[in-house]
Amino acid sequence: MQLASLFVLLGSAMAVDLDISSHSSIQAATALIADGLMDYYWGYKYGGTIGMFTSPYYWWEAGGAWGSMIDYWYFLQNNTYEETIKEALLYQTGENWDYIPLNQSTTEGNDDQAFWGIAAIQAAERNFTNPASDQPQWLYLAQAVFNTMAWRWDTEHCAGGLRWQIFQWNSGYDYKNTVSNAGLFHIGARLARFTSNDTYVDWAEKIYDWLLGVDFITEGDTYNFAYDGASINDNCSSVVKYQWSYNAGMMLSGCAYLYNYTEDDIWRQRTLKFLNGLVVYTPNSGQDGVYVLQETACMGSGSCNNDQRSFRAYLIRFMGLTAMMVPETQDTINKYIQQSAQAAAQSCSGGTDGHTCGLNWTHSGWDGYYGLGEQMCALEAIQNVLIYDRPAPYTSSNGGSSTGDGAAGSESTQLTDQPLKLDRGDTAGAAIITVLIGVSIIALACWLLV
Ligand SMILES: *[C@@H]1O[C@H](CO)[C@@H](O)[C@H](O)[C@H]1NC(C)=O
Ligand SMILES: *[C@@H]1O[C@H](CO)[C@@H](O)[C@H](O)[C@H]1NC(C)=O
Ligand SMILES: *[C@@H]1O[C@H](CO)[C@@H](O)[C@H](O)[C@H]1NC(C)=O
Ligand SMILES: *[C@@H]1O[C@H](CO)[C@@H](O)[C@H](O)[C@H]1NC(C)=O
Ligand SMILES: *[C@@H]1O[C@H](CO)[C@@H](O)[C@H](O)[C@H]1NC(C)=O
Ligand SMILES: *[C@@H]1O[C@H](CO)[C@@H](O)[C@H](O)[C@H]1NC(C)=O
Ligand SMILES: *[C@@H]1O[C@H](CO)[C@@H](O)[C@H](O)[C@H]1NC(C)=O
Repeated sequence: MQLASLFVLLGSAMAVDLDISSHSSIQAATALIADGLMDYYWGYKYGGTIGMFTSPYYWWEAGGAWGSMIDYWYFLQNNTYEETIKEALLYQTGENWDYIPLNQSTTEGNDDQAFWGIAAIQAAERNFTNPASDQPQWLYLAQAVFNTMAWRWDTEHCAGGLRWQIFQWNSGYDYKNTVSNAGLFHIGARLARFTSNDTYVDWAEKIYDWLLGVDFITEGDTYNFAYDGASINDNCSSVVKYQWSYNAGMMLSGCAYLYNYTEDDIWRQRTLKFLNGLVVYTPNSGQDGVYVLQETACMGSGSCNNDQRSFRAYLIRFMGLTAMMVPETQDTINKYIQQSAQAAAQSCSGGTDGHTCGLNWTHSGWDGYYGLGEQMCALEAIQNVLIYDRPAPYTSSNGGSSTGDGAAGSESTQLTDQPLKLDRGDTAGAAIITVLIGVSIIALACWLLV
């Protein structure tokens, strides 16, 4: 009996206790959760690669996780992981400094590239430690991602838009999805504000209009929503209606940045309507005053995969940015973030360490789920309580020191530019490339065995 009560005591001491009005409480809570997140980092482990998290987490999610860790560095003013983050962001840039590393050509889509581009623009906006002068700079990387993605804009199908995939050999090449296009829109909106270059606004408008035209996003009197995407085989006419929280977040914050930069009221209206649409991600559409965020499309059915279990992390990060860009959204966003922070913290009471975070934040205590996504979501919920304690995202004219180049990315190789231009006769070329990649993987495996 004494042993049992000891466990109860230990358990409660190890769980994450959070008082959102106390900075030191937030500090203690986020430190535990950030360390739990970094437990999944494989960079220094045997067989691991710098910048990558443990299997089964894909490359894209690492880009997402480094974005969360940049904000941990920024909001908590804690440089414990500064060098690790910097090294990871630089190691994965790929040969042409555009976040298309050859290693990832069997998995990388436009959306994946976008998540690393978002980490790069975020590093620029947070004035995160600049790389040495012979290395690519954060702004440059974000511009290279934007440019290489924009060059893939495809007017041949569905009158515009990016495909999901970059490479023809990956499945999903015939699908156009919201996240790839919303990613380009979002990065463009942030680049516009950071650099004061209106070309990015023109692009953002074009992408927004296209998303609206194909019904990947809808505008209503009060609510704007974002759906998943559609196949090019029927000209994008059958929209897959899943509503993922990160798409809503990318559109919401993209509109907010555009309003902040252009002060054009249309972007303010759109921001407010996407904000209203976020009730989709609460248990009862907010009707009972509960604004704890959930990944509605998969959580109810218990079918969230590893990717989906991280989506709320981006939504919350993007809500925090929105609150800075369009101050009139703050009352509503505070309600979401504060309730989610409190609810997420109480879910972080699982695992052998006693502070592993769960998935369902309205469940009392830990719900048995765990993973990189769960840690990221809880970390973002809690650290975003601190948005008002730190300066708003910088621009190049008020403190952001990162440098770039409007033409970044033009060094891209044949390999990365080629696939879109392939017609049927050229698939042999793609097959050869696939074989070459296969051969190098086998060669590497043999080398490792020897
Ligand atoms: C800084 O972060 C590390 C790693 O999360 C944590 O162990 C440490 O307690 C933090 N320091 C402060 C002052 O919050
Ligand atoms: C590519 O993969 C190999 C094998 O896993 C690894 O050793 C190397 O560091 C990777 N390179 C990059 C840039 O990720
Ligand atoms: C294909 O979809 C686009 C965008 O909705 C539309 O403008 C175009 O007219 C459609 N083309 C055909 C052949 O239906
Ligand atoms: C843009 O963002 C800044 C920083 O948060 C804020 O002070 C300013 O009021 C915003 N501008 C507009 C037009 O909302
Ligand atoms: C989360 O847990 C609560 C309490 O157990 C349950 O009522 C709710 O349906 C769960 N939410 C989802 C989306 O599964
Ligand atoms: C941004 O970083 C640069 C280089 O480290 C530094 O000189 C500058 O003061 C920083 N800006 C702000 C607002 O802290
Ligand atoms: C503005 O951005 C566009 C698109 O990336 C680029 O082509 C152009 O060079 C940039 N202009 C300046 C002045 O940097």
